[in-house]
Amino acid sequence: MRVVITGGTGFLGRRLARSLLDRGRLVDHEGKERAVETLLLFDKGPLAATPPDRRIETREGDIADSAALARLITPETDAVFHLAAVVSGEAEADTDLGYRVNLDGTRLLLEACRAAGNRPRVVFASSLAVYGGELPATVGEEVPLSPQSSYGTQKAIGELLVNDYSRKGYIDGRALRLPTVVVRPGRPNRAASTFASSIVREPLAGREAICPVKPETVMALSSPRRVVSALLRAHDLPASAFGANRSLQLPGFSVAVGEIAEAVRRAGGEEAYRRILWQPDPAIERIVSSWPQQLSAPRAAALGFAADGGIDEAIAAFIEDDLEAQKALS
Ligand SMILES: NC(=O)c1ccc[n+]([C@@H]2O[C@H](COP(=O)([O-])OP(=O)(O)OC[C@H]3O[C@@H](n4cnc5c(N)ncnc54)[C@H](O)[C@@H]3O)[C@@H](O)[C@H]2O)c1
Repeated sequence: MRVVITGGTGFLGRRLARSLLDRGRLVDHEGKERAVETLLLFDKGPLAATPPDRRIETREGDIADSAALARLITPETDAVFHLAAVVSGEAEADTDLGYRVNLDGTRLLLEACRAAGNRPRVVFASSLAVYGGELPATVGEEVPLSPQSSYGTQKAIGELLVNDYSRKGYIDGRALRLPTVVVRPGRPNRAASTFASSIVREPLAGREAICPVKPETVMALSSPRRVVSALLRAHDLPASAFGANRSLQLPGFSVAVGEIAEAVRRAGGEEAYRRILWQPDPAIERIVSSWPQQLSAPRAAALGFAADGGIDEAIAAFIEDDLEAQKALS
């Protein structure tokens, strides 16, 4: 199979690539397992290092460049994981960039799939940011989309495009509404949610981190391990599992930010806990509090998607997968 990951050298893209190569197979549209022969990682430059594997090819380019996409998506392309995006804080600060990458890029990618003509499976990374405004205590797919950020708006439109291009038979698409993914290793990014990872990652690696929201702020989260396995699972399910609605709310666990800090204390002791500095930022609080706090995802549960056990499990996964490399970052 020829598989493309856009945003393939980003945080989730790299992990998805590793997991896909370890597994070595995907299910095709006839329900048969087939070997992954080529894995194309498409991202804007400069490209981060990729694992040495003869199946990997890297392509540097802009997701909003239709010529680059025409070279990337060919009649041989079987599967596309569309992860390239600018994150929430950046899309809010730079309206033109957000719409160009997150909306025009998605539309052009789907057009490239349509032009290639073999109806590839497309898995689109959407977000809880599609919901917003006056939300009920528990949010599920029955809640109307009312994004309160440019990023959420772009993801909501992306979902509709995936649905429509699937309905028309140009792709076999599925869009997953991902919870905020913790713990993200490396440096903070420009997502409004970046602190949820920073307040775990930095204190455990021996550095201070600012928490810009109140301890009682509740967030719906998922670990990278769960999200990567969900992306692969979503790919492998038959189109009939989704029916007419190609957007799927993934499950996540809910936790108050103060409880995340307590879990840091459990994992790293009093010293680590004291490295969390509480400095509320109303702009971040406003965005984060517009997102769902409790998720209901019965359709995903029935399709075999599961949430992590809780924040301690997500932190344990970070310690196992990433803490050593994190400590080595200067
Ligand atoms: N991490 C989360 O908490 C989370 C939550 C919900 C949804 N998502 C979505 O999942 C996807 C992956 O997120 P991530 O956390 O890995 O983010 P990331 O920023 O690490 O990865 C996104 C990748 O897209 C690339 N990109 C940006 N602009 C591009 C352009 N013009 N052309 C080509 N590539 C471009 C970036 O270089 C980056 O490698 C994104 O679509 C994001 O919106 C992530």
